[in-house]
Amino acid sequence: MSFARIIGTGGYLPSNVVTNHDLEKLVDTSDQWIRERTGIEQRHIAVEGETTVDLAEQASRNAIEAAGIDTSEIDLIIFATSTPDKIFPSSACILQARLDIHGCPAFDIQAVCTGFIYALSVAEKFIQTGSARTALVVGAEVFSRILNWEDRDTCVLFGDGAGAVILQADEETGILSSHIHADGKYENLLWVPHGVGDGFDQVKAGKAFVEMRGNEVFKMAVNTLGRIVDETLAASDMKKSDIDWLVPHQANIRIIAATARKLKMSMEQVVVTVNKHGNTSAASVPLALDVAVRDGRIKRGELLLLEAFGGGFTWGSVLVRF
Ligand code: UT7
Repeated sequence: MSFARIIGTGGYLPSNVVTNHDLEKLVDTSDQWIRERTGIEQRHIAVEGETTVDLAEQASRNAIEAAGIDTSEIDLIIFATSTPDKIFPSSACILQARLDIHGCPAFDIQAVCTGFIYALSVAEKFIQTGSARTALVVGAEVFSRILNWEDRDTCVLFGDGAGAVILQADEETGILSSHIHADGKYENLLWVPHGVGDGFDQVKAGKAFVEMRGNEVFKMAVNTLGRIVDETLAASDMKKSDIDWLVPHQANIRIIAATARKLKMSMEQVVVTVNKHGNTSAASVPLALDVAVRDGRIKRGELLLLEAFGGGFTWGSVLVRF
């Protein structure tokens, strides 16, 4: 059985930046509240006409270039998103055509903020079993399109973006273990309560927006991520001190800090992008990974713990020898 090794990373953010001060003009909030409660200073927001696949295409091309492969080598595309361009075809199929790749399996995964971890875990299985050799795994979102810009509880938290990795079969090293979970009973703590199921009436009326009971989600996220850290380390017989980098989902700096404390890691070993990106849902982990690879912090051979928690609820982690 082969390992699935990350041989290239890529990211892309819309050029339009929205600061906390910009949001003060939209809702009853303040730069100070947003910074203190979330760590967010700004987020990138797609402009009209700019879609999830547009962002994903740029991130994918960056990852393909970093990996030094030809697109013809890609034999699997998995695309994590909760904000697909269309109901169908899948964003993965649209992306496949844009990249001029033909014939390989291409499909979407919907696990909200845990989407990229799910996608990585599924791609790993394809590579381990020899069903694929070179996979493009993407997390991309335009969450701005499903936000109520009059709801201060949610609109200050999210941003748009895309991240991607190229995974390739490797005999020596790569993903050491992946762990994915869900519990649907928490549906209405974090959800978009309308969609195809109610005939799109609420969507057409402009009411299909993210709703979140933030404080309850916060507590669940901290406890659940603490548990998954233990599960991940135990599965690979590793110690907390073995981990070089925590690459967490970027929802809230206080959740990230709590996980780092649990791992007894200093914040210097944690990749933080929530200040600049906000919460980009499925894009947040691959974007953070790409930032730290490109600025030279993450180096070959280091041990990375990727983790996320999100709507569903879903949660998961991936332990990677980079
Ligand atoms: O990525 C998927 C997972 N998502 C998450 O992990 C998000 C988890 N939740 C959170 O990050 C935090 O719960 C929030 C950042 C959403 C909220 O922080 P909090 O410390 O849990 O605040 P809270 O919800 O308990 O609200 C505290 C106060 C409330 O006012 P009162 O009732 O104390 O008077 C809110 O109405 O802050 C108020 N508030 C705001 N004030 C200014 C809520 N949103 C805002 C805002 N600006 N944007």
